[in-house]
Amino acid sequence: MVTILKWLTIFLVIARAYGECSLRNLEVRQYDTGKALKGYQEYAVSIFNKCSELCVQSNVKLNCTGFQTVEKVEPSILRVSGDVCVVNNGLPITSDATTNFRYAWSNSFNFNPISSQINCYKP
Ligand SMILES: *[C@@H]1O[C@H](CO)[C@@H](O)[C@H](O)[C@H]1NC(C)=O
Repeated sequence: MVTILKWLTIFLVIARAYGECSLRNLEVRQYDTGKALKGYQEYAVSIFNKCSELCVQSNVKLNCTGFQTVEKVEPSILRVSGDVCVVNNGLPITSDATTNFRYAWSNSFNFNPISSQINCYKP
């Protein structure tokens, strides 16, 4: 078991180094800020591109079906367009930068990634 895990780890490290990258590497994390806004709970969201530094993800779209907020979200960071949200105006999310925004509603919302365009620079 330990050996299998060791090989799996080595494989994953190599896969990462070679720029394996997919939508699954886009991570949306959020936490309750503990603050209330107009009586609604505030949440802070961070979007990470967990691919290797050689890969960027652009035109990132999240499923925003039913998303509501009383806190204004800067559209250049998260533009709500019907049931879809466009992140960063469609500009690339690199592995070293985080995209952050806050919203406020009665419950947290699951922002599930729908699609992105992946570009890897081959060294
Ligand atoms: C978005 O989320 C809604 C509600 O959870 C779901 O019904 C729908 O299929 C999702 N759309 C996509 C494109 O994943």
